[in-house]
This record gives sequence, C-alpha cells and structure tokens, in this order.
Amino acid sequence: MAMLSFPGMIDVHVHLREPGATQKEDIFTGTRAALAGGVIAVLDMPNNVPPTIDRPSLEEKKRLFALKAVTDYGIFLGYVGGDVQPLLDLADQVVGLKLYIDETFGDLRMGTKNLEHVFEVWPGPGPIAVHAESSSIPVVLELAERYKQRLHVCHVPHPDDLLLIEAARQRGVEVTCEVTPHHLFLSLEDAQRLGPYGYMKPPLLPPAEVALFWERLSLIDVIASDHAPHTKAEKESPHPPPGVPGLETTLPLLLYAVDEGRLSWERVLELIWENPLRIFRLIPPKDSEVQVILEEPYKLTQEGYYTRCGWSPFGGKWALGRVHSVRLHGQTVWQEGQLLVDPGYGRPLRHGS
Ligand code: DOR
Ligand code: ZN
Ligand code: ZN
Repeated sequence: MAMLSFPGMIDVHVHLREPGATQKEDIFTGTRAALAGGVIAVLDMPNNVPPTIDRPSLEEKKRLFALKAVTDYGIFLGYVGGDVQPLLDLADQVVGLKLYIDETFGDLRMGTKNLEHVFEVWPGPGPIAVHAESSSIPVVLELAERYKQRLHVCHVPHPDDLLLIEAARQRGVEVTCEVTPHHLFLSLEDAQRLGPYGYMKPPLLPPAEVALFWERLSLIDVIASDHAPHTKAEKESPHPPPGVPGLETTLPLLLYAVDEGRLSWERVLELIWENPLRIFRLIPPKDSEVQVILEEPYKLTQEGYYTRCGWSPFGGKWALGRVHSVRLHGQTVWQEGQLLVDPGYGRPLRHGS
C-alpha cells in the first residue's frame, strides 16, 4: 500500500462563514473539513455578516477562530470604501487586504471608487488580494505597478488573464495569482448538468478554455479552493447564491492529475505549500505532516463530506488518495476520519520576514 507524506496544504482562499452565516459552515466545521482534505492552515475571507473591515469585526473574528479552529489560520481584512485608517491600523494583524472589485456574494463590492488611494496607502506586509473579473485585471495590474504594491489575483477568471499577469511580471510588477480546482476540473458542460450547484463567480468556462488553463499551468502560483459553501436549500431557492465548497476535494483531484501525468507532485507542492507561504510571508506551522493512502483511483461522491453544507460539485470526477492522518504542532489531530483535538487547537499563522 503506497503512502504519501507531505507537510500539508495551505489553502489561501476559504469562506468559513462565521460570523453571520453558520447555517452554511462555521469555523469548527470548516477547519475540520480542512483536516479531512489534508489542509493544515486556511486563510479566511472577509465577506461575512458583519464584514471583517474594522477593529471590532476583526477582533471578533480572531476571538472566534481562537475558540473554534482546528487548523492554523490567517484572516483577511476587507474594505468597502471610505476611511482608509483601519487599513493602516490593522494591516499587521492580517494576512492581506481583500478587495472586491466586482460583484459577488455579500455586499463588500467596492468597485473602483477610492481604489487608487488604497493601492497608494496599503502598508503590507501581506499583499492586496483582489476578486476581479477579466475586465478589471488590467486596472489592478496598472495600480500595482504604479504604487509598487504586491498584488495577488484570486481565482483567475480566464486563461488569457494569465498572459496579462505574466506580462506584468516581466515588467517587474510583483503579482501572483491563484486558480481554483473548479476552474481546472469542471467546465461549462458540468455547469449545465449541475445547475445552481455549478454556479460561482467567476463562472465555469468552456472545455477548450479549461484546457488552456492546463497548458498555462506554469504561470499559476497557487491552487486555492475558494471554499464557498451554501446550503442545498439556498442553492435550490429562486435566487441561488454563487459559490461551491472545495476543501475536501482539492488534494484527491490533484493527486489524480499527477497520476495521469498532467503535472508533477513537486509542482503540486509548490502550488499548495511553498508558494502560499512565500506569497503571504508566513512562517510554516511547526511539525506538520499529512499522510495519504494512495491505492486505486475512485470517483468522488456528491454527498458525505464534513463541510456543513454537505455537498460537492465534483461528484463523479476521478480522484486518487484518501487522507489517513494529519499531524500539526507535533500532535496527531486527525486519523481515519476522527478528530483528535479540541476546538481551538489551531493557531494564528505568523508573518516571517
Ligand atoms: O462564487 C463565489 N462565492 N465567489 C466569490 O467570490 C464569493 C463566494 C462566496 O462567498 O460565496
Ligand atoms: Zn472572489
Ligand atoms: Zn472567494
């Protein structure tokens, strides 16, 4: 029986929904799902109710993570326009600033209002991470160049955007980017079959464009799930919200792709471990290890996950490997589907230099 061992995944883009929407997920169920998927640290997005945009909301989120997380974690700060003082005051307590340039779930959309000023003043050390559709990507690349900001493009919407990002890199812009597993392993054909369960922003693409993502894989820095759970009732409502869960499926999908020869395991480690640490300037969690049993490829199920929402858009897709155990800070925290530590075991990630 083949066993694979590695330090664990760092998922730089998750929505754990607490506070505000714990019917979808909470910090405990979300970080437990992370362990089930071989993820030892998550970076949580700010589009909560209330949004994580000022000192009280950040303090509350930190308090909740400290109480409930079973993985390590970092928190993004959001911004909705107006006074930039909170950005200056709170920058050193967060892993980055998340800007919603274009429409998505929640009401954090800022558009381009005051955008230039934010690029001018953001002090780091974390990058500015953007939710941007293709039409907005040239705008943020230009601002990152002008103000010498480190920019991280979340869930790149289209493979042609990778070319723009690469051109900016060649000009010396410090820009990195992430692509989601759903943009790599699902297409518009799946979206038609899945209905609301295949609806997210940015949307799925035709198969030929998905193939281009794979051709241009060398231009991608990170694979992050954009784990965005919604309940089945919400997805089946007249106005389904965008977003799909993904914490438990990224690793087996990638391992199957490795098995098929689509990319190397060394490259996967860059995408899920080395680059996340480098881009967000994080000190790796101490003494971590994920053990995966490889055996035969299998098809992912549609249900039966640890995420509270309970479903996956990847049902029927080929996968390889099952997480056997996870060690974190020197202790076995997960083994054969059992959680072995109490809520609150996870620690805040720390900034390196
Ligand atoms: O589909 C999405 N859902 N895209 C996002 O950017 C946000 C996310 C959510 O929070 O549900
Ligand atoms: Zn987004
Ligand atoms: Zn997101």
